[in-house]
Amino acid sequence: MNHFRTNLGRTTLAVAGATVVAGVSLAAFAETRHPAVETLVEMGYPAPQEGELVHIPPTMADLEASDLHPETKQVIRRGYDLFTNTQQLRGENVFNDMNCSSCHLGEGRQPFSAPVWAAAVTLPNYRGKNDHVNNLEERIAGCFAYSMNGTPPEYGSDDMLALTAYHQWLAKGAPMYPDQPIYGRGFPHPDRPEELSYENGQALYAENCAVCHSEDGSGLYQDGEYVFPAPWGDGSNNWGAGIVRLFTAAGFIKNNMPLGQPLSLSDQEAWDIAYYMNSQERPQDPRYTGDVAETLERFGPTFHRHSLYGQEGPNGDILADHANWGEKGDEVKPWNVGQPRFEELKAQ
Ligand code: HEC
Ligand code: HEC
Repeated sequence: MNHFRTNLGRTTLAVAGATVVAGVSLAAFAETRHPAVETLVEMGYPAPQEGELVHIPPTMADLEASDLHPETKQVIRRGYDLFTNTQQLRGENVFNDMNCSSCHLGEGRQPFSAPVWAAAVTLPNYRGKNDHVNNLEERIAGCFAYSMNGTPPEYGSDDMLALTAYHQWLAKGAPMYPDQPIYGRGFPHPDRPEELSYENGQALYAENCAVCHSEDGSGLYQDGEYVFPAPWGDGSNNWGAGIVRLFTAAGFIKNNMPLGQPLSLSDQEAWDIAYYMNSQERPQDPRYTGDVAETLERFGPTFHRHSLYGQEGPNGDILADHANWGEKGDEVKPWNVGQPRFEELKAQ
């Protein structure tokens, strides 16, 4: 564990972690605003709209203090450990330099950084990306297949159970299938500006990001230890990951980067950097059919119309026109997408 990450990690944690009561969900009224939400608003994040669901996930300290069975606590602790140090599954389920917490900041608890508890209360639900009803395991499997450039632990396995238990613990006290929109869910993005500038994005990246993520986007891996993740290249997420969509990257950057200085970039700057970052190469989308144009045609309408997949890149090459799977290699079978389900129900 390196000090830089630990210290900076605590800064983000302090935001969501300033809990007086753990596992609380409140309807958003000014008079009942939670101190953690006050802190977010002071930092410049939007205040909850009336009627939005505000949930403050419990911490690991709350877990220790809870009445859950000791074995349950052990499994949730294991889930936390896998989420924040997913590199321990390297070579088995993970083939890049990421942890789950590389993108889901504050250990998956931070609002505006895709806090993961939201999935625990909204799934099972239909998901357009794979065109069927997904449960929590399958949602987690999606981030393994794309964001971790890997292959998910088996459904029902110890690791999968531990991860789902951690997600569900974070959702403690939140209503199941809420009717209200969820405050701070996902990576809310600013409106797309009229024009995006690659050159401006490049200059801004060099100025604001390269110090940690390196000029060539490879991040920093020191003595086999994770320090800073790779925003592109073989150590990064593959072309099928949610963050390759420009709007998602812009939302992530605006709300979370540079680390420790969220919301410091203008909307235009966040979008320009996202455009620059997502114009670089990374491992192939596991849905690749063997032909980039065909893959684009197939997954464009539901996904890649928001990314630069199959478009002309900065060097005049077609982006993602390659069979580079990164460290995963091509012996790991592409993850099964669009698997038909409940055929017999549809036939009725
Ligand atoms: C490269 C960045 C990245 C990494 C690494 C990553 N994710 Fe995600 N994750 C995303 C994005 C992007 C979304 C979609 C957010 C949105 O809908 O706006 C997402 C969504 C999710 C959701 C659904 C959240 C919701 O609101 O429904 C869950 C659960 C999740 N990820 C779990 C994981 C787990 C577990 C891991 C590690 C195995 C992981 N993620 C690794 C980027 C990442
Ligand atoms: C002070 C160091 C630092 C700076 C500066 C910084 N980041 Fe990060 N960034 C991190 C860390 C650390 C993480 C992962 C969070 C964790 O592990 O706790 C991260 C995560 C990310 C991720 C998600 C994971 C990945 O590698 O794809 C992206 C994208 C990203 N940063 C982009 C940027 C951009 C763009 C900038 C400049 C606007 C920037 N960062 C500035 C430290 C930094």
